[in-house]
Amino acid sequence: MYTEIVMNHFENPRNVGEIENASGYGAAGSAHCGDTMRIYLDIDENQVIKDCKFKTFGCGAAIASSSIATEMIIGKTVNEAMLVNTNALVEALGGLPEEKVHCSLLAEDAIRSALWDYAEKNGITIEGLIKPESNIEDH
Ligand code: FES
Repeated sequence: MYTEIVMNHFENPRNVGEIENASGYGAAGSAHCGDTMRIYLDIDENQVIKDCKFKTFGCGAAIASSSIATEMIIGKTVNEAMLVNTNALVEALGGLPEEKVHCSLLAEDAIRSALWDYAEKNGITIEGLIKPESNIEDH
């Protein structure tokens, strides 16, 4: 059973779309189900995430996870955004059924992939960030 927060984000997802010339772009795919997620970040000169958009081709839990993830990382620095992981997402959603936790992991992977892209483009290091495995067809 999904929480009201999950249903709310699934039915009214926030920040759907793309950002042109994004400061960071990341994509992730679930080996578990084949669903995919793309994250676009607009980051200012102080390394603060000014905007974040997503496109998710996936289940309701994946859409809710990515929607709430965008709300959680907007306004944060790139280092703070590292704290928005699967545990934080599940907690913010008021919980996910055990078999749906991997859907929030997809959001964590996509965010980190976008942060990696930003870090590479700008020659910076984000503490705790490791190179993501590219596991989907990118474009
Ligand atoms: Fe694929 Fe949820 S079942 S992301």
